[in-house]
Amino acid sequence: MIAFLADKKPQFSIIAKTFFGLEDVLARELFDLGASDVEVLNRSVIFEGSLEVLYKANLHLRTALRLIVPFYTFRVRDEQDIYDELVTLPWHDYLTADQSFAVDVVINTPLIKHSQYAMHLAKDAIVDEIREKTGARPSVDLKTPHLRLNLHVFKDVCTLSLDSTGDSLHKRGYRQETNEAPINEVLAAGMVLLSGWQRDCDFIDPMCGSGTILIEAAQYAHRIAPAQARMDFDFMKWPNYDEALWLKIKEEADNNELEEFDHYILGSDISERNINICKQNVRRAGLQGKISLFRKDFLEFEPPQTERGVCVMNPPYGERMATDEIENFYKSIGDTLKKKFKGYKAWLICSNEFALKHVGLKAKDRMTLYNGALECKYHSYELYEGSYQKPSSSDESGAETEEFKEEG
Ligand SMILES: C[S@@+](CC[C@H](N)C(=O)[O-])C[C@H]1O[C@@H](n2cnc3c(N)ncnc32)[C@H](O)[C@@H]1O
Repeated sequence: MIAFLADKKPQFSIIAKTFFGLEDVLARELFDLGASDVEVLNRSVIFEGSLEVLYKANLHLRTALRLIVPFYTFRVRDEQDIYDELVTLPWHDYLTADQSFAVDVVINTPLIKHSQYAMHLAKDAIVDEIREKTGARPSVDLKTPHLRLNLHVFKDVCTLSLDSTGDSLHKRGYRQETNEAPINEVLAAGMVLLSGWQRDCDFIDPMCGSGTILIEAAQYAHRIAPAQARMDFDFMKWPNYDEALWLKIKEEADNNELEEFDHYILGSDISERNINICKQNVRRAGLQGKISLFRKDFLEFEPPQTERGVCVMNPPYGERMATDEIENFYKSIGDTLKKKFKGYKAWLICSNEFALKHVGLKAKDRMTLYNGALECKYHSYELYEGSYQKPSSSDESGAETEEFKEEG
């Protein structure tokens, strides 16, 4: 039934899950990792790969939430069909009675009315089959099961997959301290990659909060695998786990890291508290000395004078501001970008389209992303207009102020 668990060599289908809007950038990451037949779906990407590609994907993908391996598909008319089909499968070949399992259910069909009920029936079917064959029952463990299954119903097709990841890949481990509105790590990494930053110029987040965007940018710049610090993945509990292969992949990733980076990765925030939180997170990510941080109101921010740079920011969306306050705030963001960020490409994510209109600049790229449940626009502004003036030689030396050299 679960053929890829029995044999280490062959290629098999793998699905990488992500957030809406990050599918293309995830597909590009997968190409780079050596995946084949990469196809973009809704909030996921399907591809073919070996066990090696699966391990590398879990370690290296910046924009994936988890990787699952589909192994069985059948048609359903209602919840009962899930039980009737699952109870016929040889679960006792993969799970012993002293092991545990979990079933995550994703329902996208009107045929199944109650996803919780579908989940219970799926669990009952697995327990009943094993009890029937072995006389004992495995337990259900939602946190650290031996086998985590994913049951997805779309229209009348039910797909069973094995989860190779376990805890979501967005849990990078560096963020224990947060401000009120931290952005998800996978979304932040997606914003960095979507910005088109080629690691060939400075990168700035002047409203950095807890530093998620900066940390993702610095890991990308230094070629640090996002899951490098993580010790456990669910594929390590599979009977075909190849520890030597995993250790080789980890070692290659270690050797691939770059200690030096020639451009500034720079963050600031108006709040002293957030800058302190950010510093702790940067330290936890092992990036001290690689990100420059200081407290500053964006309106007084002086970016390094450079021919080209990228600025990515996640300002407050204005939920707690009066209408004219939002208008003024976003207008002043636009004015500051126009006045001080010549040569930069600036990106703003915001759920408030009214606010974005007041930036007063023509957006070059317009994308839709979700920050949690909030639909957001991710807009870019190119600040290249003829008004760009090359800094004089005194400006150039002035750009590299001590302030920019401050360490995280
Ligand atoms: C939505 S939060 C950013 C969250 C951040 N991306 C993270 O992952 O933690 C917005 C941030 O903008 C900062 N901020 C608000 N007004 C500012 C201003 N005028 N200048 C600089 N930072 C500002 C806030 O202190 C807050 O940290």
